Amino acid sequence: MVIVLGVESTAHTFGVGIVSDEPRILADSRFNYIPEKGGIHPREAADNFIKNAPKVLKEALTQANLDIEAVDAVAVALGPGLGPCLRVGATVARALAAYYGKPLVPVNHAVAHIEIGKMLTGARDPLVVYISGGNTVITALHGGRYRVFGETLDIALGNFMDTLVRELGLAPPYVVGGVHALDRCSEGGKFVDLPYVVKGQDTSYSGLLTAALKAYRSGVRVEDICFSAREIAYSSLVEVAERGVAQLGKKEILLVGGVAASKYLVEKFRAMAEYRNLRIYVVPPKYAVDNGVMIAWTGLQLFKKGVSVEPEKAVVRQRWRLDSVDVCW
Ligand code: FE2
Repeated sequence: MVIVLGVESTAHTFGVGIVSDEPRILADSRFNYIPEKGGIHPREAADNFIKNAPKVLKEALTQANLDIEAVDAVAVALGPGLGPCLRVGATVARALAAYYGKPLVPVNHAVAHIEIGKMLTGARDPLVVYISGGNTVITALHGGRYRVFGETLDIALGNFMDTLVRELGLAPPYVVGGVHALDRCSEGGKFVDLPYVVKGQDTSYSGLLTAALKAYRSGVRVEDICFSAREIAYSSLVEVAERGVAQLGKKEILLVGGVAASKYLVEKFRAMAEYRNLRIYVVPPKYAVDNGVMIAWTGLQLFKKGVSVEPEKAVVRQRWRLDSVDVCW
């Protein structure tokens, strides 16, 4: 049996997960940094990670009932993400690998979101829609890499949703009881005219954000703005995903990343999947958000193919693109 410990720290979560190749999740310990107001402040998040890292690591080993000596390799998310946050996880992982003499496996955070989705849902060859606070990507595995078939030209869908509700005075907290403030506030809204932007296979949300806030300042009702902005943002994503499916001839669609926890967005995708006769898979909400388990699981697959780096060469890559990673497993 192979056991891998994974460290996640790309944005607002410091997580440690431990998995075996049965496959089984042996531990999942997390610390979530929640800013008191405004968006995530990278240095503040990193300071909080440093304070909480020992506790999270210890908790994971306790959950797995393992001594660190029993771990075969240490995996770490080296990017993409926020520099100060990434460096905390990298430092912890490098220290563990060097001190205990364990192989260190570099993992791309975006690939890990997809791989945990596949493992937990059983999707085999899907078109993947990866949607989170920092990413909006339509991708599929082709010729050994996750090729990008569409992405946002500016801000990510999750960033758009969070910024809009924050500017409208509806958040933080952004998500209450599993429902995002944008979904909640859309109840009873009517459609008002806001720009719908799809360019080729790509989406764009910054113009929509500006127009929505302009409408708010000119007195349009908040629920009408939320409803219309949501319909446009979600529909443009479904449109490019649908085209990706048609173009690639895929029979499956897989939603991963934090925004995949939005029930309303999933409903929209389900309707499209039904119409196109596709099997749809959605990563469970607990693993839609950032976690150490997905890093451990992806690291385990890489480790079994012999991938590892010397600790001194494990440097963070803030803009490590999904489509530059060789999927060798
Ligand atoms: Fe993420």
